[in-house]
Amino acid sequence: MERTVRMRHLAILVLLHLPVCWTYPLDRTAVEEDPNMDLAQQYLESYYNLGKDVKRGFRRKDSDPIVKKIQEMQKFLGLEVTGKLDSNTLEVMAKPRCGVPDVGQFTTFPGAPKWWKTHLTYRIVNYTLDLPRKVVDSAIEKALRVWEAVTPLTFSRVDEGEADIMILFAVRGHGDFYSFDGPGKTLAHAYPPGQGFYGDAHFDDDERWTEDESGTNMFLVAAHELGHSLGLSHSDNTEALMYPVYNSRTDLARFRLSRDDVAGIQSLYGPPPSSPEEPVVPTEPPAAGPGTPARCDPELSFDAVGTLRGETLFFKDRYFWRKFHWDLEPEFHLISAFWPSLPSALDAAYEVSSEDTTFIFKGNQFWAIRGLEVQAGYPRSIHTLGFPPTIRKIDAAVSDKEKKKTYFFVEEKYWRFDEISQSLDRGFPRLIVDDFPGVEPKVDAVLQAFGFFYFFSGSTQIEFDPNARMVTRRLKSNSWLLC
Ligand SMILES: *[C@@H]1O[C@H](CO)[C@@H](O)[C@H](O)[C@H]1NC(C)=O
Ligand SMILES: [Zn+2]
Repeated sequence: MERTVRMRHLAILVLLHLPVCWTYPLDRTAVEEDPNMDLAQQYLESYYNLGKDVKRGFRRKDSDPIVKKIQEMQKFLGLEVTGKLDSNTLEVMAKPRCGVPDVGQFTTFPGAPKWWKTHLTYRIVNYTLDLPRKVVDSAIEKALRVWEAVTPLTFSRVDEGEADIMILFAVRGHGDFYSFDGPGKTLAHAYPPGQGFYGDAHFDDDERWTEDESGTNMFLVAAHELGHSLGLSHSDNTEALMYPVYNSRTDLARFRLSRDDVAGIQSLYGPPPSSPEEPVVPTEPPAAGPGTPARCDPELSFDAVGTLRGETLFFKDRYFWRKFHWDLEPEFHLISAFWPSLPSALDAAYEVSSEDTTFIFKGNQFWAIRGLEVQAGYPRSIHTLGFPPTIRKIDAAVSDKEKKKTYFFVEEKYWRFDEISQSLDRGFPRLIVDDFPGVEPKVDAVLQAFGFFYFFSGSTQIEFDPNARMVTRRLKSNSWLLC
């Protein structure tokens, strides 16, 4: 509050010192600009996905993206929705909280991933100096037991090597894209389930970690962060452990999960096996066996290749490989484990990232998915996109992010769809060979990456430079799968 007052004084001083003859058309609303706006903008960028390029208009209207985001924040955190930086809102913005955003993605991952096994390992990589190690160990253990008690999950600790959940303390920049911010504000963050840094929990060592309520309670924050490590996102229920703002008034002696937390975690893993309710065992990744496509089979071909929130998905029969890091082995899953209503043996897939939507084609139908959700109103007929009735299916599709055009490949021809006008461009179809010399129909799948188009046809993949309009490399189709 003190700083606010000082900033106001500063603004007034500057005005008083302006030479009187200065006739620069000073916008009055700019003077009235709320001095808390920078703080608010930072908060909304960090936790509410406010675009960093959103320029503040001097005169804020209801349509202003910042006002919209303030309203979104107020709604999520259970405040009165005024769209203004009122005192309650500023007070909550100043409170310590979790670093994981309330809306939008912390990092790129589709929907709500979960662990595909029930036994997980964790490792406490290093410690804070605020507490004896034993106290940290037991706070983490107790935090894991909170989740263990309501799910089939079990945890064991390892002291070296890579564990599913790596726990560490760090200050400021610590090797990921989310720097800590000194004392207060962000306390910790954790990544959703997955390989590599996914599942890991980081604690800001600039906080004063305590066993009791006198500082930042280690157990309480760990229990919340480990909820993220298991796949939960933030809850707007103020009673929930997964509510993003740290609640210093929590009765630690009588701590228990809210109904909202239990429902959330059980929707991912089901109740514990001894529970009277039907045990739901998480779907294990399919075991390799006859009929299961083998990643490094030199003859491997794909049905469709697409992207989803920064990951690349390679579809084959009932399965798909999911690649989220270029240097990590892909995960292998049943399509139905992620999207139960999608068919198998797909024809085509492409993402319109500006819409956060991936479109999936099979026969004369297509679906729209966002993360793990198949959107309502689908499947739709491909003819709603403008294809003539003679077209019964699409072989492959890819969307060019920059040009906002989507290319549909059908036999030896292709069509171009304009994402802005939402219609097929005139003058199409054209012959693939005329515009993509060296690419031979029929195309199974197309992917755009690193400025190239990758055409998959059987076990062969062709890298095509769209600017030079020439083939630059010939590869095996499964070269993406680290074979
Ligand atoms: C813990 O390890 C991380 C990652 O290696 C490092 O960034 C951090 O500074 C370490 N923290 C302490 C307290 O040693
Ligand atoms: Zn959180």
